[in-house]
Amino acid sequence: MSQRIKIKALLESDETNIDVTVKGWVRTFRNNQFIALNDGSTNNNVQIVVDFENTDAALLKRITTGAALSVTGTVVPSLGKGQKIDIKAKEIEVLGDSDPEKYPLQPKKHSLEFLREIAHLRFRTNTFGAIFRVRNSLSFAIHQFFQDRGFVYLHTPVITASDAEGAGETFHVTNFDIANPPRTESGEVDYKQDFFGRATNLTVSGQLEGELGAMALSDIYTFGPTFRAENSNTTRHLAEFWMIEPEMAFADITDNMNVAEDLLKYVISYALDKNKEDIEFLSQRLQEEDKQKPQNERQEMTLLEKLQFCLDNNFERLTYTEAIDILKESTPNKKKKFQYPVEGWGTDLQSEHERYLVEKHFKKPVILTDYPKEIKSFYMRQNDDGKTVAAMDILFPGIGEIVGGSQREERLDKLEQRMDEIGIPKDELWWYLDTRRFGACPHAGFGLGFERLVLFVTGMGNIRDVIPFPRFPKNAEF
Ligand code: 4AD
Ligand code: MG
Repeated sequence: MSQRIKIKALLESDETNIDVTVKGWVRTFRNNQFIALNDGSTNNNVQIVVDFENTDAALLKRITTGAALSVTGTVVPSLGKGQKIDIKAKEIEVLGDSDPEKYPLQPKKHSLEFLREIAHLRFRTNTFGAIFRVRNSLSFAIHQFFQDRGFVYLHTPVITASDAEGAGETFHVTNFDIANPPRTESGEVDYKQDFFGRATNLTVSGQLEGELGAMALSDIYTFGPTFRAENSNTTRHLAEFWMIEPEMAFADITDNMNVAEDLLKYVISYALDKNKEDIEFLSQRLQEEDKQKPQNERQEMTLLEKLQFCLDNNFERLTYTEAIDILKESTPNKKKKFQYPVEGWGTDLQSEHERYLVEKHFKKPVILTDYPKEIKSFYMRQNDDGKTVAAMDILFPGIGEIVGGSQREERLDKLEQRMDEIGIPKDELWWYLDTRRFGACPHAGFGLGFERLVLFVTGMGNIRDVIPFPRFPKNAEF
C-alpha cells in the first residue's frame, strides 16, 4: 500500500498517474460513483471515482456520509469542475461506519445554533474546519512573535489563591465534600483543612505571577486558559477563555502600546498569509449571510478588506478624557441616542460607546489610555494628575475591547496606599509587593483575549463558535 498523503498536499501537487492512499471522512457519495472525501487538512474535498459496477454492493452501502475511509488509487486528471485531480479508486476500506439514519450532520447547511449543540461533531463542517485551522495558526504566530523578540514563555499557575483583577468573579477549587465541608467552631467553612490549607480558585489572569517573572527574565509572556465566573450571556464572554499576557521590564505605556499594536498586526498578517483559503471561505460565507440582510445592515467591508485595512492603518491613540468629550458630542444616528447616555467623566464606557468610537467615529482600531483610577485595577500606575492611571485598552471594530493592559505601579508606597484604599489585603500579596521592595523598575504589560482575536480574524459573530468547547453559564456539556 502506498503511503498516506493528506488531501491538502495532494491537491496542491499536480502530479498524476501515481498511486496514493488518502484517509478521511465521507462528505457526500453521489450516484454510487463519486465520493467527496475530507480529512480536515483543507476545506477542499478530494473526489474519489468508484468503479461501481466492479465494486461489491455491500461495500458501496457502507460508504455513507460521515464514514471513515481509507482509499488507495491512481491520481488522474479530474472529470469535474473546480479541481485538477481525482483519485480512481483501486481499494476502498471502510474504517468506521456511520449510520446515515442517525448521523446528525447532513450534506446541507446547518445553523450555528444547531452545530453548537453537537460541538463534538461540528469540526466536520467547512465553517468549523476553517475556524479551527485559523485558530491554530494564530496560536503559532503568537509564539513566533514573542520568541523572535526574545520573550520567555512562562507557565503561570491555573490554581491560585489570589484574584488578580479583584473582581470577585472566581471559580473556587476545593476537594471538600461541598455538601458537608468541615467547619470551624464558629460555623465557617474551615479552609485550613482544605487540600491547599487555604481557599483557592482558578486563575482569572496570570499577570501577577507574570510580573514576578519579568522582574528577572526581562520579557515574558503567558498563553493559557483563564477563568471568570461572570454571569454574562453575551457573544463576547466565555467562562473559560485563553489569554496572552506579555510583561516587560524597563517598559512604559508607550512601549506597551507599540508591542500590542505590532503583535496584533503580525498575527493577523500571518493568518492572512497562512490561511488565505480558509479566510476567503469565511469572508465569502459572511457575504452570503449579508445578502439576506436589509441594505443598511450590511457590512461596509468584506472580512478580507477589514483585515487588510487593520494592517494598513495606525491604530488611533487617545485618552479616555478625549473619548468622553467625543462621545458627549455624539449621537449614534439621527433617530437614536445611546441606550446608556454618556454620564460624563469617571464612568466606565459601555460596549456601545466603544463600538461607536471604533466603528462610526474613527472607523479603525483605537487605543484608549489614561482611564480614571476608580474604574481600573489596583496595580495600574498612577498618573501625576492624581485622577488617572496609565491604563490602555485596545478596541476593535465588531469586537469592542480586545486588549486590556497598563504600565504597572512600581512605587511601593503608592501601590500600598491604593491597595488600602480599595481594601486589597496586603498580607496575602506579600510576594507581589516584594518585587517593589527588591529592585523595582518601571514595567508594563497587557492581556489579549485570544477568542476575541479569533472572532475578529474569522468574522464570526459569537465567541462560542471560535473555541472548540465553549464554557458559558449552564453549559459544560462536551
Ligand atoms: O481586561 P482584562 O480583564 O485584563 C486582565 O486580566 C489583565 N490582568 C491583563 C494584563 O494586563 N495582563 O482582560 C484582558 C482581555 C480583555 O481585553 C478581553 O479581550 C479578554 O481578556 N477577556 C475575555 N474574553 C472572553 N471572555 C471573557 N469573559 C473575557 N474577559 C476578558
Ligand atoms: Mg479590561
